[in-house]
Amino acid sequence: MSSTEKIRVVIVDDIAETRENIRKLLQFEKDVEVVGAARTGKEGIEVTRQTKPDVVIMDINMPDMDGITATEAIRRTNPFTQIVILSVQGDPNYMRRAMLAGARDFLTKPPTVDELSAAVRRAGIMAHEEREKLASTVQPGGGAAVGGGSAFDGKIIVVYSPKGGVGTTTVAVNLAVALHSSENPVVLVDANLQFGDVAVFLNEQGKNSVVDLAPRVDELDPEVVDSVLLLHKLSGIKVLAAPLRPEYAESVTGEQFAKVLQFLRRMFAYVIVDTSVYLSDVVLSSIDVADLIVLLTTQEIPAIKNARMALEVFNVLNVHRKKVLFVLNRFDKRITITAEKIGESLKQEVVATIPLDERTAIPSVNRGMPFMLEDKTKPLAKVYLSLAETVRQRINQIADLEIETKKGYAGIFSKAGR
Ligand SMILES: Nc1ncnc2c1ncn2[C@@H]1O[C@H](COP(=O)(O)OP(=O)(O)O)[C@@H](O)[C@H]1O
Ligand SMILES: [Mg+2]
Repeated sequence: MSSTEKIRVVIVDDIAETRENIRKLLQFEKDVEVVGAARTGKEGIEVTRQTKPDVVIMDINMPDMDGITATEAIRRTNPFTQIVILSVQGDPNYMRRAMLAGARDFLTKPPTVDELSAAVRRAGIMAHEEREKLASTVQPGGGAAVGGGSAFDGKIIVVYSPKGGVGTTTVAVNLAVALHSSENPVVLVDANLQFGDVAVFLNEQGKNSVVDLAPRVDELDPEVVDSVLLLHKLSGIKVLAAPLRPEYAESVTGEQFAKVLQFLRRMFAYVIVDTSVYLSDVVLSSIDVADLIVLLTTQEIPAIKNARMALEVFNVLNVHRKKVLFVLNRFDKRITITAEKIGESLKQEVVATIPLDERTAIPSVNRGMPFMLEDKTKPLAKVYLSLAETVRQRINQIADLEIETKKGYAGIFSKAGR
């Protein structure tokens, strides 16, 4: 973005006259363009979502939603947009709240032309800088999600085991915690719609689930999606829980579920999906949009046999083998079936081995406290940290390969909808 580019402004105020006055004051500034106006906080959020302005001039007292609440929502969804608060008197209490909500500047009504243009220009420069920063840190892999002003080009990581009790949910939950940071936030999604237990693993319970999003998958916005997510306070990860009752599962189609995942990848750096053994439509659709699949096995013959079958299913679904991270869980060195042997036999290398550690794993489930939130020097925690690193590396390798593939042959990695 060049410095000659205009500063795009939205005005939010419930009084028509105020909106008009501000518009008139700004009309003489050649580098400023008013691209929208709104009468309430809610409308303001909507107009901002559509126009993605650099600056919002925001009244505080408005019907339906006040300016501070709207500021908070806008800062969350349009991180580069800067907000200048317009208030009747310089009430320090308001100022403090507005600042905490993420406002950039304050003006007292009615502002002079100089005050207004100086504030808009300062905020505009900020917005351009932040936009550039975002553009350089978020390197879109292909751009399906970009263009909507989205903050992330997140990766969808599906954790799957074709045999129950192997540790799928344990891995999904603890990998999510291990990958999460404030720069790279994680959402953990339960795709086991009938008997999902992600929320239980985190000692959480919410009344909302993907069922609330399914009917409106074509008109999702970050605010609505966020209102359905649970926040796991101890770790900071967000959770899209399974419905409270198994019979609700049928109301969600695979296509709807995939759309929700695609939307979430614009809001989070990683979308971790826990699955059921049963290859439901929802699980198949998740595999279909996945950037990476963590396939689990144990040293037991039924688990290995099923892993072989799962790899065959992946072949049929055209999932590239590079997208599969084959992991051996509950590894017991007393058992002679080794990771190497399993890898050779299935022609898919085992990239990580997680030791059997019931004394850590089982109490963790029963207390609803992921062990990755506890002592990180424990052997199990160390293995998960290195698994998280393996995941990051593989994602980078795939991105590199995708670039090469685009240069050379087409289509090998084209499954992820980009
Ligand atoms: N590395 C491990 N060592 C010992 N027990 C484990 C390990 N990983 C998971 N478990 C235990 O295995 C059981 C099943 O795990 P779970 O994650 O529910 O599996 P799934 O989701 O595949 O059915 C749980 O009691 C869990 O604590
Ligand atoms: Mg499970």
